[in-house]
Amino acid sequence: MIELAFSILAADFAHLADEIALATSAGGTIVHVDVMDGHFVPNITFGPPVVKAIRPITQLPLDCHLMIEDPDKFIPDFAAAGADMVCVHVEVCRHLNRTLQLIADHGMKPAVVLNPATPIEHLIEVLPMVHHVLVMSVNPGFGGQKFLPRSIDRIQHLVHLRQKMGLDYRIEVDGGVGHDTVASVVKAGADMLVAGSAIFEKGKTAENAQAFLKIAREAALSNA
Ligand code: DX5
Ligand code: ZN
Repeated sequence: MIELAFSILAADFAHLADEIALATSAGGTIVHVDVMDGHFVPNITFGPPVVKAIRPITQLPLDCHLMIEDPDKFIPDFAAAGADMVCVHVEVCRHLNRTLQLIADHGMKPAVVLNPATPIEHLIEVLPMVHHVLVMSVNPGFGGQKFLPRSIDRIQHLVHLRQKMGLDYRIEVDGGVGHDTVASVVKAGADMLVAGSAIFEKGKTAENAQAFLKIAREAALSNA
C-alpha cells in the first residue's frame, strides 16, 4: 500500500493542527517529523515537546526522522512523547544494532536512514531488524531541495535485497519527492513517500495532497 508521510517541516507552524487535519483528510497516512540538531545537519527544528503537542491532535502514526548526533540519548524522550516510528541515521550510530534494539525496546518501530553518499551495503546486517529503510533523496537539513536521480537505483537495490533476503521491510523516500518525481519513485518500488513542500506549498494543503496521491496511486497501478 502506498502511504503519504507528510513532512510538517514545510507546514505553517502557526496553524499546525489545521495543516495536519487538512493533509489527513486528503489521504495522508503518516506524520513525518524532521528533528534536526544543528550538528549532524546545518539546521535546527524541533524535538520531543512538539511530538508531545501533536500526539493528541492526530490518530496517525508519528514517524520521527532523527537528524541528530547521539540519538540513543533521546530515544526514551521520543517514546514518552508518543512517537510510533523512529528513523536513525546510519552515519551517526556507532552501534547501530544496539540503537535499533533500543527503539524497539521502547515500543516503537525501528527504522534506519541513509544519506545519499552512504553505501546501502552498510545496512545489510540490520535489515532483518527494521520496519523500514529511509532513502534520503537529498542531503538532509532543508526542505525544498531537488531530488537526486541516483536515488532511483538505490530504491531498486533495496527492493532486490528485500527479495533476496526474504524480508518485508518497507522503503521510504525523503527529499524532493513532488508531483514531478513521485511516479518514478513509486515505480522503483518505494511505498512510504515523504513530501513536505509538495504538500504544504501555496497554502493549498488538501488539493496538493490529493493531486500527489493520485499520481502516486496511478504509478503503483502500473507496477502491478
Ligand atoms: C530533509 C527532511 C525532509 C524534507 C522534505 O532533511 O528530512 O523530510 O522536509 O522536504 P521536501 O519534500 O520539501 O523535499
Ligand atoms: Zn525527513
